[in-house]
Amino acid sequence: MTMPQATEQFDVSSHFDDSLAAKYDRRIRLFCPSYDALHQMIVPWLQSLPEQSAFLSAGAGTGAEIITLGKSFPSWRFVAVDVSPDMLSACQRRATEAGMANRVAFFNGRLQEYLSPAPFDAASSVFVSHFIKGRDEKLAYFRSIAANLKPGGLFILADLFGDRGSSEFEQLLNAWILSYAAHGVTAEELAQDRAHVERDVAFIPESELVALLREAGFSTPVRFYQTFLFGGWVSTKNV
Ligand SMILES: C[S@@+](CC[C@H](N)C(=O)[O-])C[C@H]1O[C@@H](n2cnc3c(N)ncnc32)[C@H](O)[C@@H]1O
Repeated sequence: MTMPQATEQFDVSSHFDDSLAAKYDRRIRLFCPSYDALHQMIVPWLQSLPEQSAFLSAGAGTGAEIITLGKSFPSWRFVAVDVSPDMLSACQRRATEAGMANRVAFFNGRLQEYLSPAPFDAASSVFVSHFIKGRDEKLAYFRSIAANLKPGGLFILADLFGDRGSSEFEQLLNAWILSYAAHGVTAEELAQDRAHVERDVAFIPESELVALLREAGFSTPVRFYQTFLFGGWVSTKNV
């Protein structure tokens, strides 16, 4: 089956509302079976950074990156940016529970409207930019990340990706849906989630993602992670 290309921007702030924030931590692990592994796999890319680094989590959600990285790098400081107030308050609760309240600052708004007075050593954007439709809009998002990084700063990107017209895409999509269904989700949830993916995710082939990152001022990214249609890349901001 070929998926139609969605056109209208997905309203992330109302989608990731309080009820979804509460369900998010369970459902994302059904959706992406290697979700926790992905966050663990980010750690080694950051190990050479200074002991007092500053880290930007773009689309921080309920705080998975910040909590994992906060444990691995106990002297780092973090800024969590998220357009959804409910996801951000879930993130704040989790940071407090993890004893990180004094190391995390919060910005409620779009990353595209955020500019830190002091640039960061590294940044992540995990499962965020695949919701942004349109080449110019995606480029503006990646440029905002670059604007917030030091020259040579590290950028970890994870997103759904793929060439919708290809047979590889179709095979991966079908396997992904079967994997999700195997967790015992109801037929109603399955139909809703499939419709959400088809309507709200702006898939692009990896070659386009690479071109966008390069145009935004990053080095050619290295893919270090893939699970079905989820990919993860590491890149650095050009010096
Ligand atoms: C699927 S969640 C991912 C959360 C987290 N990064 C994780 O790994 O679980 C996507 C998050 O990005 C936020 N978001 C989407 N577009 C955004 C934007 N332009 N600026 C800031 N946050 C955004 C949403 O509100 C949501 O909390």
